[in-house]
Parts: sequence; structure tokens; C-alpha cells
Amino acid sequence: MMHSLQRISIFLLLVSTVFLILPAHAQSGRSPAPARHGMVVSSHYLGSEVGQAVLRDGGNAVDAAVATAFALAVTLPSAGNIGGGGFLVYHGADGKVTSFNFREKAPLAATKDMYLDENGMIRDNSNHDGPLAVGVPGTVAGLWMAHQRLGSKPWSELLEPAIKLAEKGFPSTWDMQRFLEYLQTKDEPMYEAAKEAFLKDGKEVYTPGELWKQPDLAKTLKRIQKQGRDGFYKGKTAQLIADYMKKYGGLITEEDLEKYEAVEQAPIHGTYREHDVYAMAPPSSGGVAMVEMLNILEGFDLQKIGHNSALYLHLLTEAMRRAYADRAEYLGDPAFNPDMPIERLTSKDYAKEMRSTIDLFKASVSDSSRFNNALAAYESEETTHFSVVDQEGNAVSLTYTLEYGYGSRLVVEGAGFLLNNEMGDFNPIPGRTTHSGLIGTPPNLVAPGKNMLSSMTPAIVAKDGKPLLVIGSPGGRTIINTVMQVILNVIDQGMNIGQAIEAGRIHHQWLPDRTSFERFAISPDTKRLYEMMGHEVYFRGEQGSAMGIYIDPKTGLLTGAADSRAFDGRASGY
Ligand code: DON
Repeated sequence: MMHSLQRISIFLLLVSTVFLILPAHAQSGRSPAPARHGMVVSSHYLGSEVGQAVLRDGGNAVDAAVATAFALAVTLPSAGNIGGGGFLVYHGADGKVTSFNFREKAPLAATKDMYLDENGMIRDNSNHDGPLAVGVPGTVAGLWMAHQRLGSKPWSELLEPAIKLAEKGFPSTWDMQRFLEYLQTKDEPMYEAAKEAFLKDGKEVYTPGELWKQPDLAKTLKRIQKQGRDGFYKGKTAQLIADYMKKYGGLITEEDLEKYEAVEQAPIHGTYREHDVYAMAPPSSGGVAMVEMLNILEGFDLQKIGHNSALYLHLLTEAMRRAYADRAEYLGDPAFNPDMPIERLTSKDYAKEMRSTIDLFKASVSDSSRFNNALAAYESEETTHFSVVDQEGNAVSLTYTLEYGYGSRLVVEGAGFLLNNEMGDFNPIPGRTTHSGLIGTPPNLVAPGKNMLSSMTPAIVAKDGKPLLVIGSPGGRTIINTVMQVILNVIDQGMNIGQAIEAGRIHHQWLPDRTSFERFAISPDTKRLYEMMGHEVYFRGEQGSAMGIYIDPKTGLLTGAADSRAFDGRASGY
């Protein structure tokens, strides 16, 4: 029981925050880059430049997205990819809104307990390590489908810059150093192709700035350039993938690849203070969870409460706790979960119900007793997001991933690209959900041909039918909270896109029941007050790295910002 004196002091402190102090605005933040016509913001400057050149040359936002995605598959091997998967959300200047799901799938031979040993525990981390962790890649199929339906420039032109970067090379980055050193320590034969691709003569680490070439990847990209989708899912590339899998005990076959299909689907739509919010529907949990949180928070005057004050953080936390509990209980691949209550979870009525369970002065307790118990969950934070706006005002928000940084760290022999370890996003132990964050609920158990649940949240906020904000971030389960906080910063606090992205973030995900604060992001006084309400806090490093574009509804001016949390990000506009 909270002591009544303590309750009164929290009350007085909160009241003083709300009524006596002006709403705080983020002070930090680089000036966002302005542009009049078009812009790409990505985690690697070469990816942004490639996309911007396509726009300048008359390509539309989807053309630029395709070119950027392939360029990042060369220049940002930690997350840019053709061996992974992701999501693209589109909002046209004409009001057309759609999305593409190119999430990886479980191979046809997969089973729900494929990762368990005789004691029912995960065998040797096999859902994240080694060939069994690889899901059937979706990126090439997704980019191909988006281009077929919405692109304007010839496909082969859009592949050209990536092929040049792979053939001629580009300066290797600081970001790659740790991975290269890690590869040097790997002796198993299945890592030989990765060493071949990433190390000088298969042995030495490139120093930052040294030219790095990827001849095998260039050949794969040329097949995709010539044959489109089939250049990856059929013929030589498919055969190389299937051979590699067979050799090292993976499950993916040529049949898996041939059968893979991306899906065009309606995004989740919500509203927040007279803005439209579009984000990815399942198999991503991002759209549903974010709209649920925004609906809950809409009932509080967040501007008045003040950015990152204790009460503000408390309310965000309580919204997060509720949305992440629903995420675990209900969400998974829609093809396998036809009865997900999406309409209800994203409705204003449901939010009202949820709001009524929030105590303004006291943290709730996350209760996993409706499920079961044990083990710790690890979630990596390597993924990448980019945002595009073209001269017509069409917008693309794209997040794609290999799951961990450099995915499974396995490179397909002779094909030069990394494979994902996305199977780790399935619930690995049926029935086991724990206070430490392991989820074992039914909607996201492994099944053949099923998409694993994602948190990726490429999003577009629109006002009066026109895109206003294009935003997304990496960060595993933190992604949804990162994207939501940037949106709140823009809409409620009036921050510019640079400030909104740079501002400090928090994360709560229902279980484990504690909140992470970015180190140095929140003042110790605020932290103390927040803890007095019953929250447990721990500090962490940076949360996500958002890449966003804001379109001024009056002047049409684009302003873009690449999160300084990413090493090599850049906003490139003209
Ligand atoms: O799809 C997902 O939610 C995760 N596989 C994304 C992984 C991720 O974001 C890791 N890091 N940034």
C-alpha cells in the first residue's frame, strides 16, 4: 500500500508540473535538413544519396525506395538486405494508402517445437543461431511487388547503383568493425562464405575507410536486375540458397523459395488529435499496438502535462503496458489467426475502457498469470528504417531487417549475401510466457509457411489526406514505442523533426515489468518521482534510430532528420 503522505507529495509534485511549469520542449537536436522537392532519409549516407538521385531523375517515391533498399543491401550489411524481410507503407499524394508485407516465412518443413531439446528448452539457441534460424527471405519479392504496382522507372535502372557499389566498392565503416573481428573468430565451415565476403582475402579486417568490394553479391544483384523476382526465387540464386541450406542442415528448399509471395494489404488506420495514422497491420504488431496506445493517450492533455515529466512518462508507460499485453495475447500472422480482435483493440471505446484502469498516481502491475513460466528473452536492435517523399508528395515508409545485426551471420556460398535469423521472432516454447519477457502464446507459434510476428512500425501520419510525417525505427520490441514517442513529440509538443527524433525515449513492454530510460535522457528528479509511483527503472544505451521526414502542410517544405543514434545516417534532399 502506498503511504498516504507519499501519495500527497506525488500529487503536489505532479500538480506543480502541470500547472506551474510551462510544457518543456526538447532542447537538443540537430537542425533538420530542408528540401523543396524530394528527400530520402536512411541509416547510410550512400543509400540516401542513391535514392535522392532517383528522385531528382524523375523517379517516384517507390522507385527511390527500391533503389535505396538495394543500395543498403550493399552498404549497410548489418540490416540492409536481400536475405531478410520487412514492410513498406505507402501514402500517395492522391490519398491512396496501402502497404506491402514481405516478412520472412517459416520453411515448409518447420514445426512448432523444432527448437526444443528433450527437456523442453531451446536447443543451443538454435532459433537464433545457425541455419535453422533462417526464415524464407521476402525482401526481393516485396520490392518487386511494390514496384510492379506503384513504380514508374524501369526496374533494371533501380538496381544499377547497388550493383556499382558492390562491384567498385565503397569505404568500409566503423560500424562494421566489431562484426569483422567476430567473423575472424569463427571456425565452422558454414561461416567460410561470410569470411570470404567480409574479410580481406578471407582473413584480415578492413580498416574503416578501406575500399570494400562484394563481387558475388554484385552477380546476385545482376540476376535480380535481369529477371526481377525470379532472379532470387528461381534459378541460380534459389539453387545456391537451397544447396547451402542442405549442406549445413537448414530447412529452406527451392520449393520454399518458389512458393514465397509478398502480400499487398491494408495498413492499420487510426486517428490522433485529428491526424490520420497509418502503420503496418499483422504480421507486424506495430500498427495495432501503436494505435491502441495513441487512443489511450488521446484522453490526456500531454502538451500541458509536459514532455518527459514524471506524469507524462507514467501515462506513456501505462499505455505501453496495456498494448504490449494485448500484443502477446492476440497478435500473429493473420493467415493463421483469422479471429484477431483488431477492430476492437484499435477502437476509441476500447481505449476508454483501458484508460479507466489507469491510476494517475500509481503504476499498475503486469500480470502474466493468465499464461505460464521461466527463462529470459533477448532481443537485438539491428534493423533499419528509411523514409522517402517525392516531388509529387507521395510518401514511402520502409523498415526491413535481418533480425540480429548481420542476421544469422551466414552468407550463401557463391551468392554473397547474408541470411536472416528471423525465426527467432516466433514464440519458441509453446505455452511458456515469463516475467522476464519470454512469450509462448499461441498466435505466434512456428508453423510451416507462417510469418513470424514483428514489431517493425513503418508509419505515415497524414493531415487532411496528405502525408505530414514519415517515420520509423529499428529496435526490436522497442520500435513501436520509439515511433509513437516521435509522433507525440511532433503532434503534442510541436517539436521539429530533428528535436522529435533526438529527444530521450523510454520503453516498457508489459514483461519484464520495468521501464528502460535512455542514459542521460531523463533528469534524476523526474526519475525519482516516477519511481515513487511504483515503477522500476533501469538505464540503457540508445533506443532505436529513427529516420523521419516532416512535410509542412502550408508551404510543402520537407524537413528530414537522421537520428544521431545511427552512425552513418543522412537526410538527402534536393
Ligand atoms: O521484426 C521485428 O520486430 C524484429 N525482428 C526486428 C529486429 C530488430 O529491430 C532488431 N533491431 N533493431
